[in-house]
Formats: sequence, structure tokens, C-alpha cells
Amino acid sequence: MANLQGKVVVITGAARGVGRALAQAFAAAGADVAIGDLREADAVATAKEIAAKTGRRVIAVGADVTRIEDVRKLRDAAIAQLGKIDVLVNNAGWDKLRTFLKTTPELWDKVIGINYRGVLNTTYEILPHMVERKQGCIVNISSDSARVGSMGEAVYAGAKAAVIAFSKTIAREHARDNVRVNVICPGLIDTPLLDEIKGEEFGGKVIGAVVNAIPLKRLGRPEEIAPLAVFLASDEAGYITGQVTSVNGGLTMAG
Ligand SMILES: NC(=O)c1ccc[n+]([C@@H]2O[C@H](COP(=O)([O-])OP(=O)(O)OC[C@H]3O[C@@H](n4cnc5c(N)ncnc54)[C@H](O)[C@@H]3O)[C@@H](O)[C@H]2O)c1
Repeated sequence: MANLQGKVVVITGAARGVGRALAQAFAAAGADVAIGDLREADAVATAKEIAAKTGRRVIAVGADVTRIEDVRKLRDAAIAQLGKIDVLVNNAGWDKLRTFLKTTPELWDKVIGINYRGVLNTTYEILPHMVERKQGCIVNISSDSARVGSMGEAVYAGAKAAVIAFSKTIAREHARDNVRVNVICPGLIDTPLLDEIKGEEFGGKVIGAVVNAIPLKRLGRPEEIAPLAVFLASDEAGYITGQVTSVNGGLTMAG
């Protein structure tokens, strides 16, 4: 695993699921971590557990990424308590499976708000700090649905595709500031969110069919996303920016 000693990482949505595994892996690689999550109590428990396990400083801030004032609170807490921000991982995300004509404008707003607007908010508030320091790295967690579409996820896939296009543009705009931006697209990962989706009749059917199509014949584990994120955030990945990589057991093989 790459060495992130001395780096400070902000990770959204790290109370559970993929984000929690990311926080664990970043701390194990030597970084101090600030977790921002809606689920404040879970975030605090996760931070305590990871700090005890790794000996790193891990803080938790109750923050909704759709609210820019919460994002400012997260940024300010990270800088005040951990000294700076080297890496931003935009992981918070959410979806509910419905074919498009069964969705509502209220659901669009929620899905776009968390999955896309949240990334705009954190980037808007944290990127200036990186630009000022002429150093930084952003890793955005999108989804394979953004690359190839996904039954029941029209709005989510669109929002996650927006994250990819946004990431590439920010990568171009801020390469001169020594800020790199890359995207990870998970396939199906065994998390509480996936459990919620599988718990519904339509979601359960769709996920069941997709699992059968995975060449490696199983769901991914949250800790299988984390090593790539740690690598992308490390100095070893210093010449990689604007790139999109799937971690999906071979489910899609996008060019
Ligand atoms: N699990 C999968 O199969 C899968 C597949 C592709 C992409 N993803 C993406 O991976 C990321 C992590 O998903 P997961 O499966 O671990 O989900 P999860 O629901 O298990 O964990 C997500 C975390 O994000 C937090 N969160 C949700 N909305 C938030 C908000 N507005 N502000 C702050 N925190 C918020 C939740 O409280 C939770 O702790 C998401 O971006 C998701 O879209 C997941």
C-alpha cells in the first residue's frame, strides 16, 4: 500500500459502507482523516474505531454534503484540527431503484443533490485551499452506471456521469495548480446501501440479474475499492489525472 504519512484526507459519507473502508485504508496508509457524514453518531463511532486501530487522528463531523454551510463546517474542522487538507474523497452517494417514468421530480432533486451537487459543494469549498497550497488531490466515487447505464438508475447514472465530466474539467483547470482529480467507478459493492436496494422488490430483481452477469461471480467488498483510492491519492500517482477506473469484477469493461 502507498505511504500517505503526513497527509490529511477529507472523506464524505465515511460512516459506513465504501467510505468507511476508505477511511480505514487511508488511516492505515498513514494519513489523518476527517469524516463528514449525515449519520453523525455512526461517523463518530467509525472515527473512534479507526483511530484506535491505526493510531492516526480521525475526526468526525456531522455534515450533509447538499448543504454548503455543512461542507464549510467540515472543511474548517479538518483544517483547524488536522492542519490542512491534502486529499478530498467525494464518496457520499445515494440511490433508490425505479424505472425513470416511476420516479418523481422530488426524487430527481434528492438524487442529483447528493450525488452531483454534493461534489460541487465540497469541491467549491475545499479546492481553493489546495490551489493556495499548490498541492492537492481529489478522488471522486462515481459508478459503473455512469459509464454504461443501469436499469432503474436513470437519474443516478446521469448524476454520476456528471461527476465524471466535472472531474475531467477540474483536472484540466487545476493541473497547473498541482491538483490532480481522478474517478473510481465501483460496480456492485456489498454495503448497507446495496442491502437497502436489494430489500425492495424491483431493486432485488435488478441486482440479482446483474450479479449473475459479473465475470468474477460475486459482489465486491468495500475494502476492494480502497487500495485504488489510496494509490490515486499518493505521490506514486503523480502523473495520473483526469482518469476514470472501474472496480467491478469485470461487470463492464468500458474503453
Ligand atoms: N454499493 C454499490 O454497489 C455502489 C455501486 C456504485 C457506486 N457506489 C457509490 O459508492 C459510494 C458509497 O456507497 P455505499 O454503497 O457505501 O453507500 P452507503 O449508504 O452504505 O454509505 C454511504 C454513506 O454516505 C452517507 N451519506 C448519504 N447522503 C449523504 C449526504 N447528503 N451527506 C453526507 N453523507 C451522506 C450515508 O450516511 C452513508 O454513511 C456512493 O457514492 C455510491 O453512489 C456504490
